[in-house]
Amino acid sequence: MISRASAPGKVILFGEHFVVHGTRAILAAINRRTTVTSRITGDPTVSIRSDLGECEVDAGPPPPGGGAAPPELRPFEFLARKVIGEFGGGGGGRAGIRMEIESEIPRGAGLGSSSASCVAAACSLSRLFTAEHTRDDICRMAIEAERTIFENTSGADCTACAHGGVILYGMGAGFERIGPGPGMRLVISDSGIARSTGEMAARVARFKDCDPEGFGSICARESALVDRAASLIRRGDHRALGEAMRENQRHLRDIRVSSGALEDMIRVADSCSFGSKITGAGGGGCIVSMADAASAAGVAEALRGGGIRSFAAEIDHSGLEAF
Ligand code: MEV
Repeated sequence: MISRASAPGKVILFGEHFVVHGTRAILAAINRRTTVTSRITGDPTVSIRSDLGECEVDAGPPPPGGGAAPPELRPFEFLARKVIGEFGGGGGGRAGIRMEIESEIPRGAGLGSSSASCVAAACSLSRLFTAEHTRDDICRMAIEAERTIFENTSGADCTACAHGGVILYGMGAGFERIGPGPGMRLVISDSGIARSTGEMAARVARFKDCDPEGFGSICARESALVDRAASLIRRGDHRALGEAMRENQRHLRDIRVSSGALEDMIRVADSCSFGSKITGAGGGGCIVSMADAASAAGVAEALRGGGIRSFAAEIDHSGLEAF
């Protein structure tokens, strides 16, 4: 029995970090995907192969401390043990599972590679045993798995990867689709500097601890900005959206998640797009620029001229797919 599923990466257009602290965020799924192939095997082991590494662990209950796989493969071990625990072994004995993860999404770049992998893995694994799980069930499983590497995740990334399109997301409030109107083009440019979401989130938590009032006032401004941006997306006002992204970038700068290298890229991108900002945890990773059909290629070209990997992304409207 083989089961295969794929999920898109994502960009955060507005609200990263602030969403962990209660504001809403706007995310778009993009046309770069991760595919996970799972098989039931005769051996009582979980074996995982991906470009992050490989491992084979016993399929029985997890050892004390939670897992036996290397930390970067823990979410997949968690999911495999979960479905084996829930559905037991097909045909009486304990099942083993073999998984392969193939990704077009750059790792550690803020484009949702980890979330897309968790969503695709949760779907591929659960479909080995049942077709009953809904997209929402799969998304919940993926968020649980992602918590093995970043405990405080808001769940925004997995939700965008599972559902696709452009969404307005709030922790505990779920999500709402908001377009996009026609003509929106996003240009994504990668600093090539890897960073950890957990470390960047911890940096923001320290900022909040040191200056709760200051942080609260930035959150209030971000919250109003997200509401305004949602209506601009519905209206398809890309020029005003670009301005809103510049404003969001000022908030991200204020909470110390930008860097010299990212600011240099943003300066170039701002000179030829409607506006740009960090996307994801910051510290490194990618920036996203708002453009339209006439300007997108030129923005990517300008960044590439400075030696930066840059591409115009399409919005992915399908989200999770099983086949
Ligand atoms: C990471 O892509 C986005 C953060 O807001 C964390 C989260 O929402 O889980 C930094």
